[in-house]
Amino acid sequence: LYGADFTADPHAVYERLRAHGPAAPVELAPGVPAMLVISYATALEVLKNPSLFARDSRRWRDRNEGRIPKDSPILPMMDYRPNALFSDGKEHARLRRVITDSLEKWDRHELRRAVERAAGSLMDRFTATGKADLIRDYARPLPLMVLNTMFGCPPELGLRIVTGMSGIFDGAGEEANAQLTEALIELVRIKRANPGEDVTSWMLGHNEHLNDEELINQLVTVLGAGTEPQQNLIASTVLLLLDEAATSERGMDLPVKDAIATVLWNSPPIANYAAHYPTKEVAIDDVTFTEGTPTLISFAAANDDPMLERQHSELNNSHLAFGAGPHACPAQEQAQLIAEVAIEALLKRLPDIQLAVPEPQLTWRPGPIHRALTSLPVEFAPVKPRKTVSNILSTDKSTQMTNRDQAKSKASKRSRWSSFLTWWRK
Ligand code: HEM
Repeated sequence: LYGADFTADPHAVYERLRAHGPAAPVELAPGVPAMLVISYATALEVLKNPSLFARDSRRWRDRNEGRIPKDSPILPMMDYRPNALFSDGKEHARLRRVITDSLEKWDRHELRRAVERAAGSLMDRFTATGKADLIRDYARPLPLMVLNTMFGCPPELGLRIVTGMSGIFDGAGEEANAQLTEALIELVRIKRANPGEDVTSWMLGHNEHLNDEELINQLVTVLGAGTEPQQNLIASTVLLLLDEAATSERGMDLPVKDAIATVLWNSPPIANYAAHYPTKEVAIDDVTFTEGTPTLISFAAANDDPMLERQHSELNNSHLAFGAGPHACPAQEQAQLIAEVAIEALLKRLPDIQLAVPEPQLTWRPGPIHRALTSLPVEFAPVKPRKTVSNILSTDKSTQMTNRDQAKSKASKRSRWSSFLTWWRK
């Protein structure tokens, strides 16, 4: 699952694997064997059966017996961390409660406003040029800006977090892992000293009383899950919409919500993950899962299972893009809201947006876990940036004089974001 062939056409690989039955032996990285569940029904059996399929990767037999290369790029995504994703039973319930309770406290209307603000200020930086790379200029920084607001995280620190997380998804290994951990230690230090009305502070103050290490490990899951797949959901959905507009006689008439649902079914941002470890030998439909062998779920292949007999027009939410069972994504509603608001804002401001290169020239990032475009070049008729308070403040001297205090704070916020975004684009 790590070669160029897989990256170029993962569905062709899944089709070949179906010859093995509901699950197939794969290699996640050189010298890292695993089982990959490709049937929808078997995926549910594994995901919903924690007593037979545990998540604690300290049960990984090949790793424990020294057969996995120590520098394997897959390890940061697989090695045990004391967080919700790798925990089972009561400990999982405790850690997950801290996450769900704190995420729930963040108001949906505030979330929409945070997305609109981020979308607006990002677009102001490229609409006048008539072209953009929507990954670099929009889909990648937007979730980060939104999560920075939700988690009360200073922008520079947010950048370090997402760079570390992207490195882990791309297989950059230990270096990326260290970068991420260092940035999170700093975030926790800042919030312990100055708690605010944000998700990090609510997690810190939760009555399950997580210590700093526990908290950092939960943040790795939440911020990692909230940035990489979020960026890929936005980008893949925009690509689908642009493709529809270019090929359909009726132009872009697919509602954004339906386009998101289609991507979650056909090209889930997390394609293969949810590593489970059989607690004993388990046989399901002629496939034997041996104790301690990583058993991953192919959300992409399971959604496309021919046994499902699903119509391609069927847009319900029974796909597996957000997982299922006790570890199902606790932020599904928020993730879809962020994607929908971000894409609606883009299409509203740039109604004539189109791909700047033929679709077959687009490339995808390597790696077994995500389905992620490398870049998404687009073009459109140039549009002047909006007349927002912060944009006006930078040009209109009389406003600056009459609203000096407001100007000071807005201008300082703006310059922080400007320098962050300039740095981002280097
Ligand atoms: C498009 C965006 C997203 C996608 C496709 C996605 C997908 C998933 C999937 C497939 C899982 C299950 C993984 C497994 O079973 O190993 C998961 C778990 C999780 N997701 Fe999301 N997610 C998204 C956005 C978010 C966001 C925005 C957050 C938080 C702000 C979040 C937080 C989490 C957490 C904490 C877990 C682990 C839950 C547990 O182990 O109990 N996700 N996500």
